[in-house]
Amino acid sequence: MITTRPLFIPVILGTARQGRESEQVARFVFDEVVKREGVETELIDIRNVELPTTDAGEAIKDARFSATVERADALIIVTPEYNHGYPGLLKHVLDTNLKEYIHKAVGVCGVSAGGFGGTRVIQNLLPVLREMGLVTIFWDGNFSNAGTLFDESGNLLDNSHVQRMDKFLKELIWMAKTLRYGRENINLEG
Ligand SMILES: Cc1cc2nc3c(=O)[nH]c(=O)nc-3n(C[C@H](O)[C@H](O)[C@H](O)COP(=O)(O)O)c2cc1C
Repeated sequence: MITTRPLFIPVILGTARQGRESEQVARFVFDEVVKREGVETELIDIRNVELPTTDAGEAIKDARFSATVERADALIIVTPEYNHGYPGLLKHVLDTNLKEYIHKAVGVCGVSAGGFGGTRVIQNLLPVLREMGLVTIFWDGNFSNAGTLFDESGNLLDNSHVQRMDKFLKELIWMAKTLRYGRENINLEG
């Protein structure tokens, strides 16, 4: 059986920092997802995921965030590069789910002030996502020189990102469809 309902692919904005450049990138990525037929999306700002810091993991679930991830067929994580790593708050938020992620696709967009498009934060995030049961794709979003990507009105200055995002989304959607078929039709126990 192949399900025909739309895929649900939320975009997670992975920093709460005041003045974050990643917000514009997340909005650009979100807008590109909105254009896809047969895909529904939502922008999740981790500022709005309210969690205590005195515990960690599934003990501190935010009901709305968990329900959104549960409904998702794939995730897109937009993460800035902080000392070659991911923001601690992003990890804190992601850690609150586990079974909600299993056998779902994930793509990562890195955002950096430097010229490597967040490649180092992406590499560091991949093993975390794997441990969560997510399936990573082999395309990334790489957004270098974050402060100069958009003009004052928020328009993207380098259109090559549109083509790159097209390839990224095609791959993510293929993986999301494939995994949804697997979740719904293939028994893990054989
Ligand atoms: C704590 C911290 C560490 C950072 N480390 C790096 C880094 O390792 N490499 C880099 O290219 N930019 C680094 N930056 C700059 C961010 O990548 C830059 O601010 C970019 O715009 C994305 O982050 P933002 O969404 O918070 O603006 C760092 C910024 C902060 C706040």
